[in-house]
Amino acid sequence: MVPNAPPTAPIQRPVRLAVLLSGGGTTLQNLLDEIAAERLEAEIVVVVSSRAEVKGLRRASDAGIDSSAVPRKSFSDGTSFNDSLHKALDPYPIDLVILAGFMSLFEPREKYRNRVLNIHPGLIPAFCGPGFYGERVHRAVLESGVKVSGCTVHFADDQYDHGPIVLQEAVPVAEDDTTDSLAARVHEAENRLYPEAIRLWTNGQLTIDGQRVRIRR
Ligand code: GAR
Repeated sequence: MVPNAPPTAPIQRPVRLAVLLSGGGTTLQNLLDEIAAERLEAEIVVVVSSRAEVKGLRRASDAGIDSSAVPRKSFSDGTSFNDSLHKALDPYPIDLVILAGFMSLFEPREKYRNRVLNIHPGLIPAFCGPGFYGERVHRAVLESGVKVSGCTVHFADDQYDHGPIVLQEAVPVAEDDTTDSLAARVHEAENRLYPEAIRLWTNGQLTIDGQRVRIRR
């Protein structure tokens, strides 16, 4: 029995999401746009940032969503940082926690075990883990000479970019790619993949079997 196993039948809509971010919030914006376009039956109930004064927090307040900063640099260790993150989430009814460009480690603990999704701008288990985020991923991909990159949505555990993989999408690396052009191509795929993974979870279509996620279509 998987603790907090994904639902096996559709859950009550709208699914209630908490979004954790650290920067510009383009992932948050994509989810807001999907919700507004009625392609995603979700409500973002709270946004928490690990950095103060980032654009992602402005996007949240522009959308009328409760938001706060729990700056990672104000804490000497990960445990006290996570205590404060959990405290910021506690007052809200949350079905699923969405890591959206969250550059610190969120510990799901018992409360959110198997209820945290992350998106990574690479094909896990390559080019991921501590230090691999945002543009750094795309630079490492280009330097390595691989011909394919992509993005991954996975259940997050308490290691960076780690946990059972829900969806991956590959994108080609072009001969003349720069980090910006590759990031833009990957981002386009991310914008499709993350809402799709949330829909699958909400529809009760996911089962976790060890490190594998099985999808009922
Ligand atoms: C996205 O490309 C996401 O994959 C990446 O941050 C970007 C979102 O930032 N996440 C990671 O690298 C996690 N390891 P934004 O939503 O703040 O624009």
